[in-house]
Amino acid sequence: MKILSDPSAIEAIKKAKNIVALTGAGISAESGIPTFRGENGLWTKLSPEELASFESFYQNTAVVMEWYKHRQEVIKKCKPNPGHYALCELSSVPEHFNLITQNIDGLHQRAGSRDVVELHGNLLENYCVRCGQKYSIEEFDDVFNNAMNHVPRCNCGGLIRPNVVWFGEALPRENLELAYNATIQSDVFLSIGTSAQVRPAADLPVLAKQGGAFLIEINTQHTVLSEEADLILQGNSGEILPQLVEDIKTLLPKA
Ligand SMILES: NC(=O)c1ccc[n+]([C@@H]2O[C@H](COP(=O)([O-])OP(=O)(O)OC[C@H]3O[C@@H](n4cnc5c(N)ncnc54)[C@H](O)[C@@H]3O)[C@@H](O)[C@H]2O)c1
Ligand SMILES: [Zn+2]
Repeated sequence: MKILSDPSAIEAIKKAKNIVALTGAGISAESGIPTFRGENGLWTKLSPEELASFESFYQNTAVVMEWYKHRQEVIKKCKPNPGHYALCELSSVPEHFNLITQNIDGLHQRAGSRDVVELHGNLLENYCVRCGQKYSIEEFDDVFNNAMNHVPRCNCGGLIRPNVVWFGEALPRENLELAYNATIQSDVFLSIGTSAQVRPAADLPVLAKQGGAFLIEINTQHTVLSEEADLILQGNSGEILPQLVEDIKTLLPKA
């Protein structure tokens, strides 16, 4: 065993048919994408309400869009890290595996993961708030770079916004249902790099635990969820996950 020594964790994984992983901004920190909370988190420097809401987008479109444009550029330059690749590898190990993410960076998909349940949208997708027209990142870049005062507009005249869930907005219903269903069926639930403060995503690990799942938290710091966790693996997810997946492969050898 590379990282697992806890007998109850080993027992739970041996019996696991359904494994769910929920990821947050922390899994992408080692790829160079800043988290919101935690050390060096973005929210320690900027107020979320000032940027991540429809009201502020509508009132201060140029400022908000410059911030999102900056984050798009950061994401485009970043690459998946060993944590993302380990979760991709894990997908074929248990009978059922579901990957749910709060991240909007698309790095799981770029690491090869399929069927990623995105709860908060994707920053590299954009759409017109008036007619719904979708803009790929290349199309968006084109409009943004030619826009007056960094206010990107669709041909119909409507404002173009990133396809991300802002404060006060509902999560994509279908994805939320997928996430709930996977969670209540999970035997082992991994909560990775999330401060577990943004609901309803933060409810998922608690729900899993209530349903009898073995809850493993992977984080560099303690969180509000730590008390609930059956096992805490403290450290960088990019280092812990590859070792954990090796252990799970030993405990759940393919038939
Ligand atoms: N990469 C992204 O897509 C990105 C980045 C920032 C924020 N967000 C959005 O902001 C919201 C923030 O909630 P959240 O809980 O995902 O993030 P968060 O910023 O609130 O918390 C990040 C957590 O990751 C931990 N962490 C930092 N580095 C780590 C590492 N190397 N390994 C393991 N853990 C590490 C921190 O201790 C913290 O608990 C989400 O809804 C998400 O949509 C996304
Ligand atoms: Zn339009």
